[in-house]
Amino acid sequence: MGDEMPATPIWSVDAVTPDSGVIERAAALLRAGQLVAFPTETVYGLGANALDATAVQSIFTAKGRPATNPVIVHTHNTSAAKALAGAWPESAEKLAAAFWPGPITLVLPKTAAIPDVVTAGGPTVAIRVPSHSVALALLKAAGIPLAAPSANRSTELSPTRAEHVFKSLNGRIAAILDGGACSVGLESTVVDVTGDTVKLLRPGMITVPMLEAVVGRVMVPDVETGVARSPGQMRKHYSPRTPLVLVELDSDADSVAKELIDQNLKPIILGWDYVYPYRWIDTQQPHEYAARLYELLHEVDAGGFDRIVIEMPPDTPEWAAVRDRLQRAATR
Ligand code: TXA
Ligand code: MG
Repeated sequence: MGDEMPATPIWSVDAVTPDSGVIERAAALLRAGQLVAFPTETVYGLGANALDATAVQSIFTAKGRPATNPVIVHTHNTSAAKALAGAWPESAEKLAAAFWPGPITLVLPKTAAIPDVVTAGGPTVAIRVPSHSVALALLKAAGIPLAAPSANRSTELSPTRAEHVFKSLNGRIAAILDGGACSVGLESTVVDVTGDTVKLLRPGMITVPMLEAVVGRVMVPDVETGVARSPGQMRKHYSPRTPLVLVELDSDADSVAKELIDQNLKPIILGWDYVYPYRWIDTQQPHEYAARLYELLHEVDAGGFDRIVIEMPPDTPEWAAVRDRLQRAATR
C-alpha cells in the first residue's frame, strides 16, 4: 500500500480567509474516509474522520505509528468538544474558556461515539479546538470531528510547513492544504483533566504558570523517569536524522564542536547568541524561537552536517516546551 498511490496534491489556501471551494473539496475527502493534512497554529495535522475507525486506522498506517499511541480529536468549538466527552469537569470549563481556540489539548473521559483506535483502547480522549482559520473552516465544512496527529512519519520531526508534510508523506495521503508556516511551531500543551488535580502530560507554549493562573496547582511529570506522561509517547520522538548534541548554556559549545572536528566530523552549532558556520535562530524570545525551531531543524538536517550542536535555552517555565522537544530530538 502507499507505493502505488499517485503524488499527493498540495492545495494552497489563504491562511486568514481560506477559499471555501478548496476547503469544501478537502472536507469531502475527509467525509469519504480519506486523509488530508491541514495547518493548525501549532504544527500541521494529518486529519481523518474521528468517528470512522477505518479512516483513523489509515492514519496509523500512513505514519507508521504504533497503535499504542492515541491521537488528538479536533473540533470547531467547545460545545462540539463537550459532546464527545463523557464528563466535563470544572477544570475543563475553565481551561477551555481561557485558552480555546488555541494550543492546548484536554484529556477527558470518552463517550461511546469515539472508536477505540482513536484512544489506543483507553477510557479517555484528548480533544483540542485549534485557532487556525484553515483548521476551523475545514472542521466546520466537514461537519465531523477530526482525529489529527502531527502530519509526519512516526519519530520524524513535526511539520510546520506544507513542504515538510510533502517530504514525509507524499503518496501516502489524499491531499495537503498549504496555509503557510505555523505561528506557534511546537505541538500543543496536553493536560489530563480527569482527576482532582490537573496533570501536565506534554509541555507546550501554554506554560505551567499560565495553567496555574486558571486552575491552581498543576502536577508536572518527572522528566527523567517519564512518569505520568501520555501513553505511547516515546522518549525518542521529533527527531532530525542528524544526531543532536545538547549543551547547557553554562558549558562550552565551542570545545564540544572542536572535539567533533578533531574526530573528522562536520558540526553545525546553533548557539544561544551566535552560530557556526552560517546562521542561527536569531532570537532569545521563547515564542519566536519555538515558531522557528522545527523549520530550522528541517533545514539544517538537509545541510550535510554530521552533528547539530545546540546550546539549550534556560531551564525556566517559558522555555519548558522548547527544552522538552530538544531533549526528545536528541534521544536516539
Ligand atoms: O499541536 C498538536 O497537538 C498537534 C496538532 C495537529 O493538533 N497534534 C499532535 O498530535 O501533536 P500527536 O499525535 O503528534 O501527539 C498527540 C499527543 C501524544 O503525546 C499522545 O500520547 C497524547 O497526545 N494523547 C492523545 N490521546 C491521549 C489520551 N487519551 N490520553 C493521554 N494522552 C493522549
Ligand atoms: Mg507527533
